[in-house]
Amino acid sequence: MTAGESGQPLAELSKTDLQALEQAWAAELTQVSGANQQLDLSRGKPGAEQLSLSDALETMIAGNYISADGTDTRNYGGLMGIAEARELGSEIMEVPAAEIMAAGNSSLNLMHLVLSTALQLGLWGDERKWSESQTVKVLTPVPGYDRHFVLCQHFGMEMVNIPMLEDGPDMQKAAELAAADSCIKAIWCVPKYANPTGNTYSASTVRALADLPNRAAAEDFVVLWDNAYAVHHLQQPGDALASIRDAAIAAGTQEHIVQFASTSKITFAGAGVGFVASGATVLNSLTTHLRVQTVGPDKVNQLRHARFLNGRVSEHMAAHAEILRPKFALVERVLTEQLGALGVAHWTQPNGGYFVSLDLLPGLAKKVVAMAKDAGLVLTPAGATFPYGIDPDDRNVRIAPTFGSLEELTGAMQILTLCVKLASARLLLAQP
Ligand SMILES: Cc1ncc(COP(=O)(O)O)c(C=O)c1O
Repeated sequence: MTAGESGQPLAELSKTDLQALEQAWAAELTQVSGANQQLDLSRGKPGAEQLSLSDALETMIAGNYISADGTDTRNYGGLMGIAEARELGSEIMEVPAAEIMAAGNSSLNLMHLVLSTALQLGLWGDERKWSESQTVKVLTPVPGYDRHFVLCQHFGMEMVNIPMLEDGPDMQKAAELAAADSCIKAIWCVPKYANPTGNTYSASTVRALADLPNRAAAEDFVVLWDNAYAVHHLQQPGDALASIRDAAIAAGTQEHIVQFASTSKITFAGAGVGFVASGATVLNSLTTHLRVQTVGPDKVNQLRHARFLNGRVSEHMAAHAEILRPKFALVERVLTEQLGALGVAHWTQPNGGYFVSLDLLPGLAKKVVAMAKDAGLVLTPAGATFPYGIDPDDRNVRIAPTFGSLEELTGAMQILTLCVKLASARLLLAQP
């Protein structure tokens, strides 16, 4: 009988029982490691079956390159994107098309554009530029999306962690910090099915975020609203996210909210369409900056996407959910079966998005990632979900169940949970 089956937390077991389990799990891990498997739980990207849902994209042009308003998409120009691509952005982001720019293949690219514009040119066509500030600081709810952190580091922006709670970032902390320091210029948000925690911000958090630019000491404060998983539900009905645009209009902060989305995890990752939405002044500053880089986006791809998706985004995402549900269910089942009773881990059960966030006993994340690697399982590096790669408690591990097959996922979860059990038992045994 394993401790999991006994339903007893490891911390309540006698040293002798714990030692016996440690030996059994160590033997099991040696056996699994000997199988020379090459498994990977780090890939937060769509699996091939999901990508195939969009294969018909290829047939959407069929010689007709002219968009609804007569634009020849084969030619230069149209920095804001073609009308029907902006309509697609509107369907995904629930923001009027007039407030959206449909751009190139990636929202990350647009985040880079927004940060560089805020720094060098300013977002509002006046004298406000982040580069005028001695230092630029950004609030980072943690755990969060590693590439937001990499962007900040790239631009020399200092990150200030705030805790991520069930209903979104700790807004009291965020408001206190932003009100006290005019160097704090922005906050990163993944408001729906957050990466990696999977939670969706509550309506009161959304209102507090829309009001944050009013509370901040900086007059050039921006809420970076990365709605990467806006339509990526696993269940129906999915989580409801209140409109930050409506809240911003009420708070008078629309020009201080910049929203992002893309079709990366709707159609082809890396070959889709990215969107950015904000007030007219901000969009104008962004196009001024962007115009230097490009004469216009890939409008042929935009047209192809609009023809394929407009009016049927929900239906298309339901097909993704069909593929993903069993994978997330498997992760949840194995975590519950193997770790549920042991009192050594907590994890999220998201209703959408791409990740499960696993919290271990403090001090074990790096160890577990290293043990898993030796056993043939690649995990996201420990610390990646925190700025500068530093998880202060060394406890968070991000699980990405989407890419691998169910068979691969089964093997991967077996190794992961075995490593967690073994590392936890060893930690407890080492305690006096
Ligand atoms: C929160 C978040 N934002 C943005 C992205 C990347 O989006 P894109 O492919 O549009 O650059 C990801 C991808 O994992 C993500 O998780």
